Amino acid sequence: MLMRYWGRKPIELIDELLTEVTDSTVIDPFGGAGSIVLSALRHGNRAIYLDINPYAWLVAFVNIVSIDAEEFKRKSEEVLNNLVIIRKRTLKSDFLYYSNGKPFWKKRSVDRVSQFFTTDNFRKLYSILKSIDNVNASPEVKIALYGAFCSSLFKASKMKRENAGSWGVPSYWIPESHKEIDAIEAFKSEVKRFFSYFKSHKGYKIGEEVKMQIGSSLSFNYNKNHILFTDPPFFDEVQYMELSFFYWVWLRESKFRNVARYFLGKNITFRISYEMIVNPNKGINYDKYLEMLDKFLLRTKRIKRKYLLFHYDKKDFMRRVISLTRERWKEVKIENFEIENQRNIGPRGGKKYVLIYS
Ligand SMILES: C[S@@+](CC[C@H](N)C(=O)[O-])C[C@H]1O[C@@H](n2cnc3c(N)ncnc32)[C@H](O)[C@@H]1O
Repeated sequence: MLMRYWGRKPIELIDELLTEVTDSTVIDPFGGAGSIVLSALRHGNRAIYLDINPYAWLVAFVNIVSIDAEEFKRKSEEVLNNLVIIRKRTLKSDFLYYSNGKPFWKKRSVDRVSQFFTTDNFRKLYSILKSIDNVNASPEVKIALYGAFCSSLFKASKMKRENAGSWGVPSYWIPESHKEIDAIEAFKSEVKRFFSYFKSHKGYKIGEEVKMQIGSSLSFNYNKNHILFTDPPFFDEVQYMELSFFYWVWLRESKFRNVARYFLGKNITFRISYEMIVNPNKGINYDKYLEMLDKFLLRTKRIKRKYLLFHYDKKDFMRRVISLTRERWKEVKIENFEIENQRNIGPRGGKKYVLIYS
């Protein structure tokens, strides 16, 4: 996949589970980076993507949607040629605290996103963002440019360690041996990567083959004839919205929302409080999580064919999830998987998966 995101389930497993699903419409309402939607499309289905997180939507968009590689290349050159360095130093309301005054669960040393950047890189990044705003391109290419910008943020930040991977934000802290890359170089190298992905991967037509939406899966109107296939957030401590905030505070200062409105037909917001996740600082414990899951199960119970894929490491809590699903969906089947050689997802790196289907 072109843009990474936390908590992606093994694509081989998804592909295998979807082999028999063809010529249907598959909906993934906890869509994340879009791997389930992509797999469904590759199996000859139409697909609907939904996620509450606008940053996830952006990631999924560039991973899935057909984007003109040559136009993307030309426009990214324009972005760099038109750069005007803007002397700014901070982003608006970028503090790593909830409105109740409690810090983000993953916050370690730093108080606000702006502090992750040197003055030089901050100005360069801000200028690239404004230059993307001003470029006249198709909406698909504009979204891809914002995507390439986001992909360069981590590398250009003080979270980047020397000789360490180019992607992360496991938590909000600055390692002692950080070594950020020049922001313009980081953007250029992301542009290269994006170009070769668009050139070599088949993208899908938005509207015709795939629908891309932002919203809550707890209040979505489901069609009972579509196939539900999804992996809801679990309790493995991956804080999707919190971690996406790092990107969102930048996107919020650009015209990204206007361009996204072109596809969504409505304004988008970053509703951190609607997220289904266990997070003590937000006041969401396991019981509250189960209440939210229950809402989702009730809402989807009429769908004829439905699959839930969970990654977990707490066995007892998994049992509670299974019995709740059984109560709501009635006849359910359970399959357990343990995947070796799997990239660690949660902090404890559990490799256990369960598929609940009905
Ligand atoms: C486990 S991830 C999905 C990963 C995805 N399958 C992938 O390949 O990247 C769960 C997703 O659920 C989203 N989410 C959490 N609460 C939600 C809600 N109420 N409605 C819709 N999406 C939600 C999170 O933003 C996150 O992207």
